[in-house]
Amino acid sequence: MAMDEPKKLPVMTPDARPVVAVDPDDLGMTDQELEDEIQRLKRERNAVILAHYYQESEIQDLADFVGDSLQLSQAAARTEADVICFCGVHFMAETAKILNPDKVVVVPDLEAGCSLADGCPAPAFAHWLEQYPGHTVVSYINCSAEVKALSDVICTSSNAVKIVQALGEQKVVFAPDKHLGAFVRKQTGRDDIVLWQGTCIVHETFSERRLLELMAKHPDAEVIAHPECHEGILRHAHHVASTSGLIKYAKQSPARRFIVATEAGILHKMQQEAPDKELIAAPPEEESCACNVCPHMRRNTLAKLYLCLRDLTPQVDVPEAVRVRALAPIERMLAMSV
Ligand code: 13P
Ligand code: SF4
Repeated sequence: MAMDEPKKLPVMTPDARPVVAVDPDDLGMTDQELEDEIQRLKRERNAVILAHYYQESEIQDLADFVGDSLQLSQAAARTEADVICFCGVHFMAETAKILNPDKVVVVPDLEAGCSLADGCPAPAFAHWLEQYPGHTVVSYINCSAEVKALSDVICTSSNAVKIVQALGEQKVVFAPDKHLGAFVRKQTGRDDIVLWQGTCIVHETFSERRLLELMAKHPDAEVIAHPECHEGILRHAHHVASTSGLIKYAKQSPARRFIVATEAGILHKMQQEAPDKELIAAPPEEESCACNVCPHMRRNTLAKLYLCLRDLTPQVDVPEAVRVRALAPIERMLAMSV
């Protein structure tokens, strides 16, 4: 292929009409042109754009709804759009599809995964569960449809404690995030909860040593952290919550300055909601790395968002037998979260 020739990617339109898509980098459109086209296509397709707080700011600003994992599932459950364009990672779009089998669910990048979901393959999970008969299986929403299908109830970071509390004396296994699981153990006083040993590559890398340095430099700052962080960070946190919970807290707290221990994409919406507050991103261990940016979330770009709305591809699909089994624990969570 000649150097200046755009890369051709074969794609199919929903009516099986073959089209040739250019590489997103070779579209030659300005951000403004992309945004205008996205708005036009959204109307034409009767599509809704759902975006997570970890998406790049341009995508968040274009979305019809920006939220945390629970809010996004709730938005997916109630939408009347024909097309759901999910700007997040694969398990989020998959959850939207499980809730909406008759709608088209597209994502800007099908490869946008999650270290927690990837670290808990369904066959290994099924094998592991054999050791714990009689336990209620609580799975964090950051897992595949196949793992959801093996679960009794799904939770997110905003309702995990509440859901486990509602299970009373039942024996519980919790997967796949060991840090969120440890947080739930602590909050519920249930040391017997069995934990799958998964971690998030982003929240795992925050440095306690560098956080302490930052706290010493800004003694007035409050540390706010996502429960996917390890204990070395959580033990210093004034407030631990989901992404939406952290934004709410930054807005309402009388403190003027916050050290924010979660993925850096949250700072965009947090600053919009709390314009008079100073927000400092918590530091990862390596000074030079951008480890507080999720590489999966950032696979999505404006250009890919435009292409997925234009071509209605890539679509997220879930085999019907898996979907039906995965739906029950998701619906149980939604019913317990009103
Ligand atoms: P929440 O959206 O529940 O805050 O979780 C964050 C996350 O890691 C999503 O992948
Ligand atoms: Fe998964 Fe962590 Fe990225 Fe969230 S931030 S999508 S938990 S890898």
